[in-house]
Amino acid sequence: MASSDGPYASLRERVIGEHGTVMLIGAPDTGKTTLATLLLGDALLARRTVAFVDADIGTPTVGPPACVGLKRIRSHSDLSDMGGADELRFVGSIQPQGAVLPHVVAATDLVEVARREADFIVLDTTGFVSGVVGQTLKYHLMELCNPALVIAMQRGGELEPTIGMLRRFLSARIAKVTPDGVTPVAPLERTETRRAAFAKELDGPLARWRVGHDVFAPTLPEAFDESRLDGMLVGVQDKQGRCLGLGALQWDGEAVYVATRHGDAMHGLRLGSLRIDLETFNTVEVRLRALMFGV
Ligand SMILES: Nc1ncnc2c1ncn2[C@@H]1O[C@H](COP(=O)(O)OP(=O)(O)O)[C@@H](O)[C@H]1O
Ligand SMILES: [Mg+2]
Repeated sequence: MASSDGPYASLRERVIGEHGTVMLIGAPDTGKTTLATLLLGDALLARRTVAFVDADIGTPTVGPPACVGLKRIRSHSDLSDMGGADELRFVGSIQPQGAVLPHVVAATDLVEVARREADFIVLDTTGFVSGVVGQTLKYHLMELCNPALVIAMQRGGELEPTIGMLRRFLSARIAKVTPDGVTPVAPLERTETRRAAFAKELDGPLARWRVGHDVFAPTLPEAFDESRLDGMLVGVQDKQGRCLGLGALQWDGEAVYVATRHGDAMHGLRLGSLRIDLETFNTVEVRLRALMFGV
């Protein structure tokens, strides 16, 4: 049962009657993840089978940044410790620009996985809600994940163009919510949170594995100078398209190595569009085409 006097009480009463996927959209710090947790808790109490798909690739709650994560919520202790993902899909970017395709595919894939076992799924998203990229992303997420309900959290009218578009073209059912008591977080604090999230995945003693020329997706050009891979963030992949976790490439002057915790079941490495410094966990964007072909 939804709490009758807690935050967002009437919305939560409504949402508990939904089946399928509820997608949360809103700018950064509008309270999406906090509301997601409340909805998941309500659904648990109502004895639903519950899953959380976290598609916030920049400041995720489930799994490391640059990935979409799935967490099965079986108990309230799962809710209070959401960091460890049950499944990951690699996106390779901390923002959707240049990564809309892998981002939408990753989110859709995990919503599909969740649907096979859960009847109530919450899909959390990035704070990119406007402009061409934000709208294109939300359009295709809506199109493919097909949520029963979209919860749009907006302070002013910032989501109105996106809401209008989703209603007009995809007949979306949308509940608008004004954030309740949420204080914005400074961008620097968000960067700090992201660095800590990368550190959680990549800090400490990592095993180093030598990697060959042919283990990458996309594949490297023939006469590629492999020293250029130094510092690249990779998704460590199994054979079934699943991401096991992150790794960082290192060039020692002769060969390329991957530093990762996930070497045992590693089958291939996906290149994203980030270089990461393993001392500071700062990232810089890399255009993969420029890296490979100099264009
Ligand atoms: N209803 C609320 N009342 C008070 N603080 C809130 C509420 N919802 C969220 N917050 C706080 O606001 C900040 C941003 O919330 P969060 O859910 O992480 O936003 P988002 O996922 O949209 O970025 C967090 O520090 C969170 O604890
Ligand atoms: Mg969030």
